[in-house]
Amino acid sequence: MISSFRFRFLVLAVSVVFGLGLANQSEVAPGPDAPVELRCEYLRNPLGVDVPKPRFSWVLEHISRGQAQTAFEILVSTQVRAEKGDMWESGRVEPRESPQVVYAGKPLESGRAYYWKVRCWDQDGRVSPWSQVARFDTGLYSRSDWKGSWVSGKNQVRKEFTVEKKISRARAYICGLGYYELRLNGRKVGRNVLDPGWTTYDKRVLYVTYDVTEYLRQGANAVAVMLGQGWYKSTVLLLQMNIEFEDGQKSEIVADSSWKTMSGPVIEDSIYNGETYDARLETSGWDRPGYDDAGWSSVSVVAGPEGELCSQMMPPIRVVDTIVSLNMTNPTAGVYVFDLGQNSSGWAQLRVRGPRGAAVKLRFAELLYDNGMINRENLRGARAEDVYILKGEGEEVWEPRFTYHGFRYVELTGFPGVPTVNTIRGRVVHSAVEPTGSFSCSKPILNSLQRIIVWGQKSNFHSVPTDCCQRDERMGWMGDAQGTAEEAMFNFDMAAFYTNFLRDIRDVQDEAGSITDTVPHIWGSRPADPAWGTAYPLICWYMYQYYGDRRILEEHYEGVKKYVEFLRSREENGLVKFSYYGDWVAVERTPGSFVSSFYYFYDLKVLADMAKVLGKEEDVKKYSAIADAVKTAFHKEYFDPKTQSYANGTQTANTLPLFLGLAPQPVRGAVWGRLFDNIVYKNNSHLTTGIIGTKYIMEVLTAMNASDLAYDIATQTTYPSWGYMIENGATTLWELWQLRQGPSMNSHNHPMFGSVGAWLYKALAGINMVPGSVGFEKVRIAPQMVRDVRYAAGSVRTLRGMVSCSWARDEQTIKLDVSIPVGSQAEIMIPRFNLRNIVIREGGQVLWDGQGFHSGVEGVNKVEQSTAGFEVRVGSGRYVFELTGQ
Ligand code: BGC
Repeated sequence: MISSFRFRFLVLAVSVVFGLGLANQSEVAPGPDAPVELRCEYLRNPLGVDVPKPRFSWVLEHISRGQAQTAFEILVSTQVRAEKGDMWESGRVEPRESPQVVYAGKPLESGRAYYWKVRCWDQDGRVSPWSQVARFDTGLYSRSDWKGSWVSGKNQVRKEFTVEKKISRARAYICGLGYYELRLNGRKVGRNVLDPGWTTYDKRVLYVTYDVTEYLRQGANAVAVMLGQGWYKSTVLLLQMNIEFEDGQKSEIVADSSWKTMSGPVIEDSIYNGETYDARLETSGWDRPGYDDAGWSSVSVVAGPEGELCSQMMPPIRVVDTIVSLNMTNPTAGVYVFDLGQNSSGWAQLRVRGPRGAAVKLRFAELLYDNGMINRENLRGARAEDVYILKGEGEEVWEPRFTYHGFRYVELTGFPGVPTVNTIRGRVVHSAVEPTGSFSCSKPILNSLQRIIVWGQKSNFHSVPTDCCQRDERMGWMGDAQGTAEEAMFNFDMAAFYTNFLRDIRDVQDEAGSITDTVPHIWGSRPADPAWGTAYPLICWYMYQYYGDRRILEEHYEGVKKYVEFLRSREENGLVKFSYYGDWVAVERTPGSFVSSFYYFYDLKVLADMAKVLGKEEDVKKYSAIADAVKTAFHKEYFDPKTQSYANGTQTANTLPLFLGLAPQPVRGAVWGRLFDNIVYKNNSHLTTGIIGTKYIMEVLTAMNASDLAYDIATQTTYPSWGYMIENGATTLWELWQLRQGPSMNSHNHPMFGSVGAWLYKALAGINMVPGSVGFEKVRIAPQMVRDVRYAAGSVRTLRGMVSCSWARDEQTIKLDVSIPVGSQAEIMIPRFNLRNIVIREGGQVLWDGQGFHSGVEGVNKVEQSTAGFEVRVGSGRYVFELTGQ
């Protein structure tokens, strides 16, 4: 991409220097680069696409500023190299506002490979080169495409088969519950672990598609599967391989009663408790052809789970990183403790030599006692212990398959001989969502905060967003999920992950519309606490805001409406008051009924907004009117004119009404005054909020022009604060503001206080959307240059391309480096502080001085002065502004 960009720049430069084409410059002026970042249903070259009309997106880059795509052309073909789209030739199409384009070709067929490419026209009518070819494979569209049966037996199953002819293409479709490891001819297929994702199995089960062309060969083959308990707590398998031959014929290998089964070396596996593996039970060659399985029993054909089979269209769980231990200690005879230096989710890889039958035990912990032994009091009922029994054949390297732990420390006992620091490696395991954001600034404590947010967040992506990854819980708690969703969307590409999670939420909805505290539902209640249930409307809405995903709104509109109607059925005098957790784990409690009523209003508002996008005018009117009535009831019930505060006057109590405009204009100033006093004077610029108040208080401080105060809060190092966690050695966020290490509820890896991550991006790096805009089409760059912060930088890879802002300042200069993707527009706010005689340059060219705005800088449309500074309007491109003054 860079090289083609350089090449065309060179052509332009050469033609200008040598006078070639000077008379006809438009011919050589470069158009857009070939589109990049081609995605189908948010994924790169996905296999198993099971929607009939998938959506495509790509990113355009352009040497010129202020550019937009004015048209595109897509070809979709069954042939890799086809110059013609035998499935779809879109012709030249003018795009609508969505960053995604919906397939509109011939009906796609089940289980086929398709190839696509795209080119685009820019604002001046110049066309880009064609993109590289991307591909997608369709999944099995209907249940009747599955030819085999669900089978069940012991935890290893196998089947041999002969392939008579040369293979041109082969796909495996597999659902092995709780977890599976698929092996072909002695090799593990793909890199997924703890697969498939956990769902409400009687509603929806996920199957996974692999390209196995390279794993098979003409002649004898063996397919073998190891099965683990996972969340299903039992083992069943459905598998089908569709093989196509070079002569055009096809054949299928499917799970059925002819498959054989046997117990393997995994003798116990449990997510919470760990895995026990007896390597003496390994049967060499069981996953290759030619193995004698005469002693194995036959599998049974079983009914299988009731849920609909759906393709797993999200990033799978993988081993995404390996950590070398920082150190190893030997606190007491025979006990070795490894410190990975980082709390995370996953497991340990063990390297050992020793006698056959020696049993090595690994136990996992987040904490240490002062004597150097591991402290596991906060794991509650999770045994978190793996055992490896040696086969005694030279060096043995082992890691578990069907469990995971949340830990920083590993205790090793039963080790034959003396281990070294290299005996244990940490394996970081979570859903492999792509990182899309970065943030850093001149304050080390905030960089540490960003780091513990990111580690806490990613180690809690386990096909659903979990609350924690160490104790006997690891649930999709919805309050935690909604509170962290925006932060997660800045840091990671969450689109496909949340698309799946929203279906998980829909799967738990009952006839009455109620949903549950955790999804899939194991812990907590039905109906969900309204502050937890709000994850359904809110994550739908964030998907629309951040990714422009209108289809999500269409898919879930009825579900969200039913949920809101359920809340309405619980209305008492215009409010919804039932609550279990409210502003959970706050230092100062706020009444739960108040928090529930706030979310009732919020959900009504989001429903009305969804209706508006979808053109459902009747519903817009209906739910806006109900929301207005709730607003009145809310103020009447909770506002106390004497104290000029809401409810009991806590930080959360006065934050929530300010955030959503529930506080009427005449009292806003007074309520803000009470909130300010509470933070600054009563609490010495510390928070007393739980996870709900914390999410909104930072936003309210930005809206109230109190970013200095927000910064003071964010950089505190005394209790209660994020800095207090960092000062006490946190490498992931804690569940509580308090430092606790006993048997009570105190996870040391709980992402829910990480909502402040969105504030780092929005306030300090200044990356926002113009209100009402979606998918970063209209960007607002407004960095808060607070206190003594000297620089900050943030970037977010959006569906349209990179949005970034980095700034630096000293007494008389502000530098601002901003990138806006092709097709987006931006308002950029450059503060003026108290400077006079201000001159603003862009790339050295004067843009503003005593005489006002100088037009003529490419891409800069306007500069306007306001009291706080300068509003600059630009189109796409990279801009380097410098403001100087005295
Ligand atoms: C979980 C939380 C969750 C809460 C709700 C806890 O046990 O770990 O994160 O939101 O329960 O009460």
